[in-house]
Amino acid sequence: ATERTLSIIKPDAVAKNAIGEIISRFEKAGLKVIAAKMLQLSEEQAGGFYAEHKERPFFKDLVGFMTSGPVVVQVLEGDDAIAKNRDLMGATNPKEAAPGTIRADFAETIDANAVHGSDSPASAEREVAYFFNSDEICPR
Ligand code: CMP
Repeated sequence: ATERTLSIIKPDAVAKNAIGEIISRFEKAGLKVIAAKMLQLSEEQAGGFYAEHKERPFFKDLVGFMTSGPVVVQVLEGDDAIAKNRDLMGATNPKEAAPGTIRADFAETIDANAVHGSDSPASAEREVAYFFNSDEICPR
């Protein structure tokens, strides 16, 4: 089924000048960018986005990393977009990511892991709405 998912190109991948290469992988896999913007996240924005991880030991480092430089947030649309994006990204820990995945090719550590993607339809809906008003989304 056609789905929407939220993708974030994280500060490490932006710093590596890999925005285009990463978006190119989404497009080549048949996903369409239907919304996009570059943002410098505040601690409040990053902490709110990752609220489900608030009690985890890595939360503080996660917020610190996600506010360390600009990110590119996008809404990707396509058939099976949530799983397709997760396949393209590879495992959360780049050391476990399959060859040819975005994290295997661009990420160094579990914290600086290049990209985020929604993990379920419920989180996709919440995450898209967290960053985009409906008038910022351009289905085509
Ligand atoms: P992401 O998919 O953006 O969701 C939460 C992030 O926390 C995750 O990618 C990792 O970058 C980061 N993180 C750091 N340590 C861990 C961990 N032990 N388990 C899961 N995520 C972690």
